Amino acid sequence: MKILLVGSGAREHALAWKLRQSPLCTELLIAPGNPGMAELGRCVDIRSDAVADLTRLAVDQAVDLVVVGPEDPLALGLIDALATKNIRAFGPSLAGAQLEADKTFSKKIMREALIPTAEGKSFKSMRDAIAYVETRTDAMVVKAAGLARGKGVVICKDPVEALDVVRDIMEKKIFGPAGSTIVIEEKLEGPEISLLALIDGHTAYILESAQDHKRIGENDQGPNTGGMGAFSPAPRMTDELGRKAESEIIVPLLDALARHEIDYRGIIYAGLMLTPAGPKTLEFNCRFGDPEAQVLMMRLKSDLVEAMMACIDRKLDQITLEWDPRPAVCVVLASSGYGWERDEKVVKGVPISGLQEAAMMPDVKIFHGGTAMRDGKLVTNGGRVLSVCALGDTLDQARQKAYAAVEKISFPGMQYRRDIGKNSG
Ligand code: AMP
Ligand code: GLY
Repeated sequence: MKILLVGSGAREHALAWKLRQSPLCTELLIAPGNPGMAELGRCVDIRSDAVADLTRLAVDQAVDLVVVGPEDPLALGLIDALATKNIRAFGPSLAGAQLEADKTFSKKIMREALIPTAEGKSFKSMRDAIAYVETRTDAMVVKAAGLARGKGVVICKDPVEALDVVRDIMEKKIFGPAGSTIVIEEKLEGPEISLLALIDGHTAYILESAQDHKRIGENDQGPNTGGMGAFSPAPRMTDELGRKAESEIIVPLLDALARHEIDYRGIIYAGLMLTPAGPKTLEFNCRFGDPEAQVLMMRLKSDLVEAMMACIDRKLDQITLEWDPRPAVCVVLASSGYGWERDEKVVKGVPISGLQEAAMMPDVKIFHGGTAMRDGKLVTNGGRVLSVCALGDTLDQARQKAYAAVEKISFPGMQYRRDIGKNSG
């Protein structure tokens, strides 16, 4: 099969690595890809949100399967565009992607399906939002309703801060059009866990558990990022919690999607918070998590292409996925300037060294995110630069191996959390 993978982050590098291992994959195209992925397939310089160009590429190249990594092309209707050309693709349609791309819609679905979530309200008008915040006395979470690369959520300790954030999002438009509608929610407390499932329109297949570290700073200090590291399995995801999550979240979600006539095929990612009142769903994403995908791909032994085809062909009930029982840890190496400020200015273009030595260490795999080649040298090219992953016999051993590899790598301004995989249970 000729496969086209869309995306350019470390999540996509991890997916490319697994796709390439499949005997079904005879050729891999990647748009736009990165230098890490260039070792696995042919990178084509088309942005991941250029729906028309990607569709044309898939047609011209007679691609058999398109795999979409990030949310933007899904929310822009890439799957729908490919369907009009009879090209099979892994990921939900535009309607399904609204679960992530429109937090107002996602809240509505959760309420309809009685999926436990934070109490919240949506606002299109800044004046109404401000009036609402002024009636509150507690901590709040203010969210841009649209897509903001995992950063459109601000946790505010009190209404004064919330007022500032409402103005930043709706007046200064720090998240662009994603913030033209906002959601204001009660702040929940508790550890977070990511629940990922394959969905074929009828059936869900829950993947091994994973947990990421969202905050930029150690001990979960500072603002939220896309994710600074992850580990799998997540000891907090007990069998009992897994069953509860399936019956209280995934099954009602599938029913609600069916009621809305949304034929969802692809990945669903529920971000859960384990509150004292039980697990609550913070959000749904319509794609693999980044960096959750990195640790899951480290552990997946089965053929990823087969699993994706089972989703597309509605045959998920016929597959069983095999996993490496060993835990995996992923440490994200980020650029200077990433994550701390709402209007961040990431430093790019600085040389990366030590990668080859790190990549040779046993049980270690390094996935590229924001990297580029300049004059034959590897340089940084984004916020989250590299995902350094390792497998170990225990979570602690996986951590040690990942950090031993991190030690070998450096670039000016490199920052990372030293506590990934700690405090896991
Ligand atoms: P979301 O994109 O809605 O999942 O939010 C991103 C992150 O913000 C979550 O993973 C949590 O860390 C945090 N967050 C979102 N909603 C809430 C909430 N209601 N209470 C506390 N933290 C939240
Ligand atoms: N790791 C969080 C996300 O992918 O949204």
